Amino acid sequence: MADNNVQVVLAAYANGTPKESDFRLDRTPLRALEPGEFRVRSIYLSVDPFLRMQMNPTTAANQTSRKYGVITDVGRVMAGGVLGEVTDSNHPTFRRGDIVEGILGWQLFCTTNGWISKRHNPAGVVKCDLSLGVPLSAFASVLGRAGLTAYYCMIRELRPRKGDTVVITSAAGAGGSIAGQIAKMEGCRVVGLTSTDAKVKYITEELGFDVGINYRTVNDLRAALRQACPNGVDIHYDNVGGEMADAITELHAPGHRYRLVGLASEYNTVPKDKPFWSWPYHRRQFVVHDYTADFENGIREMAWWIKEGQLKYREDILVGIENTPKAFCGLFHSENIGKRLVKVAEEPTRPN
Ligand SMILES: NC(=O)c1ccc[n+]([C@@H]2O[C@H](COP(=O)([O-])OP(=O)(O)OC[C@H]3O[C@@H](n4cnc5c(N)ncnc54)[C@H](OP(=O)(O)O)[C@@H]3O)[C@@H](O)[C@H]2O)c1
Repeated sequence: MADNNVQVVLAAYANGTPKESDFRLDRTPLRALEPGEFRVRSIYLSVDPFLRMQMNPTTAANQTSRKYGVITDVGRVMAGGVLGEVTDSNHPTFRRGDIVEGILGWQLFCTTNGWISKRHNPAGVVKCDLSLGVPLSAFASVLGRAGLTAYYCMIRELRPRKGDTVVITSAAGAGGSIAGQIAKMEGCRVVGLTSTDAKVKYITEELGFDVGINYRTVNDLRAALRQACPNGVDIHYDNVGGEMADAITELHAPGHRYRLVGLASEYNTVPKDKPFWSWPYHRRQFVVHDYTADFENGIREMAWWIKEGQLKYREDILVGIENTPKAFCGLFHSENIGKRLVKVAEEPTRPN
């Protein structure tokens, strides 16, 4: 057991696109466990675009994080997701050797009672069911909050039907790549928007999307969308907001379904004193934590799809906690295909 923890701490509020210098690494001693607490050794840290909201000054723009009892401020550890192993425990439920997932912060070790806040179960720690027989990292990627977002948003809220035209932005990313495949399973025509030809190739040739549009190089986005969606858009899975959302919205068909999943194109430009969730189209906002109580079922079904070869996923893994800021900032430069993670420790050996 190491004596010291290493934490990725917010060093400065972000000004526009996040920079590596907005973070610093702090070394802190590990304290003894109190009754009811356990210690988690991080294996994978999750870097996610929504964490950009935590990099604004307190109050308004940071309110979504606060809603879940997950708070970052200058000088505090970034409240990102972690997949890790319990190394010591004074807790009745969590035992040494358990593999757990939760919003435990970007750090090598977390000392926790399993709750980030008594009021906010969604941020709590959950045990991973290793009997599902998927690679361990999957619990941080496709079976983590990014994949579960795609699953619940599609299955429970957008409800794709055979013949629907479905448009997805950030289509090669962690959630978009899964959402598109779920719509394909239901017999939809799926159109994905993304930023490079390699990503277009991935979603169309590997994942089976019907059309991929490179929104950066296309001459006329609206014309390309009209051509890809001749009967209009029945389902709009919006990961980015902004101009792309406006262009797709113009093609919404009668009876269309829309969910605001994320705002990747706006996180860096929103006025610091304005709550994200006050935007007009946020009325139809999706929140994955509304489904926490059902995660076990969603994870089981997706794990089955993976084993049956019906659901593919990619992970984009950087190594070393010192690379966490770089991994996170790179999301806003469209570097990742699939779910971006940072591996900070070796996986434990698992029995065959
Ligand atoms: N509502 C919820 O409960 C919930 C839960 C999880 C995630 N989310 C949100 O869902 C969205 C997708 O999350 P994810 O985890 O799947 O991440 P992701 O799609 O892997 O996010 C990274 C990607 O975002 C795109 N992007 C970055 N900056 C952009 C910009 N300025 N304009 C347009 N696209 C940009 C890039 O893809 P391109 O190459 O395509 O540009 C980049 O590769 C995020 O906005 C996230 O905050 C919401």
